[in-house]
Amino acid sequence: MGHYILNVNGAQLSVDAPGEESLLFVLRNHLDLTGTKYGCGEGQCGACTVILNGRAIRSCLIPVSAAANLKIETIEGLERDGHLNSVQQAFLEEGAMQCGYCTSGMIMNATSLLRHSPHPTDEQILTAMNGNICRCGTYPRILAAIRRAEQSGEAA
Ligand code: FES
Ligand code: FES
Repeated sequence: MGHYILNVNGAQLSVDAPGEESLLFVLRNHLDLTGTKYGCGEGQCGACTVILNGRAIRSCLIPVSAAANLKIETIEGLERDGHLNSVQQAFLEEGAMQCGYCTSGMIMNATSLLRHSPHPTDEQILTAMNGNICRCGTYPRILAAIRRAEQSGEAA
């Protein structure tokens, strides 16, 4: 059991957990941040995507000990002063979800993409989003939402 300080969505939170526990488990079960989803638990689906020090990562693969003191962003932290971020807003406007299980991971990955590459080509979008699985097959609307966010001209 270790004691860790996690910087989540701008807040410093202390957690007691085994160091090898996944960041995903700690976010969901210790910190009650359940917007990040458990899909496969093996790095294969992207449902658990969060942004760690500016990069989209699979939180099911990261031990909490490796995330201590780094900047963690989850879906709960994207809204600012009552305003959704551009990707969240675009997903809503395009209706880019069915069951919604993949959605927070999709939004986190797309947010990271647009921060690094504000005007990606279709190929860049497909490459970046390739590992995020949607079992409902809403890919066309997800791509449309990312395009809409990109064209909104706002920083993700
Ligand atoms: S739950 Fe992490 S990639 Fe599937
Ligand atoms: S909307 Fe159901 S898995 Fe993507």
